[in-house]
Amino acid sequence: MITQLARDAEELHALPRQGRRAVVMTMGALHEGHATLVREARRLAGPDGQVVVTVFVNPLQFGPGEDLDRYPRTLDADVLLAEQAGADVVFAPAADEVYPGGEPQVRVTAGPMGERLEGASRPGHFDGVLTVVAKLLHLTGPDLALFGQKDAQQLALIRRMARDLNFPVEIVGVPTVREGDNLALSSRNRYLSDADRASALELSRALLTGAAALEAGPAAVRRSARVVLDAAAAMEPPVVLDYLALVDPADFTEVADDHSGEAVLAVAARVGTTRLIDNVHLTFGERR
Ligand code: PAJ
Repeated sequence: MITQLARDAEELHALPRQGRRAVVMTMGALHEGHATLVREARRLAGPDGQVVVTVFVNPLQFGPGEDLDRYPRTLDADVLLAEQAGADVVFAPAADEVYPGGEPQVRVTAGPMGERLEGASRPGHFDGVLTVVAKLLHLTGPDLALFGQKDAQQLALIRRMARDLNFPVEIVGVPTVREGDNLALSSRNRYLSDADRASALELSRALLTGAAALEAGPAAVRRSARVVLDAAAAMEPPVVLDYLALVDPADFTEVADDHSGEAVLAVAARVGTTRLIDNVHLTFGERR
């Protein structure tokens, strides 16, 4: 299959539309995690459907001092990877195409869920994410849109936006894709030196250690994960913890110690100059 590259809305809308349309939104620097989303989009859209991959490094979701300028831009390789994973179209607009006349005055506000965890560390981040996701949904007009559970809070907020603002689209979550050593794939992993990477592995190890305490309940899960992260803080380079939280996937508030049902154990930390996030989904049984 030959993937079409559309650089602006006009080129995108000139392409014939066929069957169910599935969209995978990315900021490029595509890796196997993105490829998994595209393959799942292909499966859900079906052979007669259409898979659109968007590639756009959204300035609105980067804070001052974050990595907007050094964020990897690899469009040629991205188109190739998207094609191999089954995309029909890559939509890669320029910043002034998405934001003609500069940053938009009217934006989507993420609300309270957008101020917790990632939102507390990155003020305005989720408003920037939801604003561009809303725009890209309008530009691409999909029947379904797929997002990774790697960014669990982002996925929850996009679901919430679609529900609260009546977006006529089905939001589909896709499980996190990991390396053989369990490091969650991320475009930012390419910033890691070998030593950084060894420390970074403690994030997923903390989550797995926490998950292993599931039967003992939420407090034990938090405690077990914390032990690993406390030790990782003394590594070289250190794992500098931002947050470890055990939250309700619907609103990202902390769950109580007697919680039963779904929860997300989420972690964010800095290793060297790279900020990393990871999470696992857990289901607690009834507690007595
Ligand atoms: P980006 O970080 O490029 O991620 C694009 C999509 O790929 C997101 O849905 C993300 O959750 C998913 N993804 C990334 N790594 C993954 C992994 N290891 N396993 C499974 N899925 C993974 O997230 C964004 O871009 C942006 O915020 C965006 C939604 C495109 C808005 O700008």
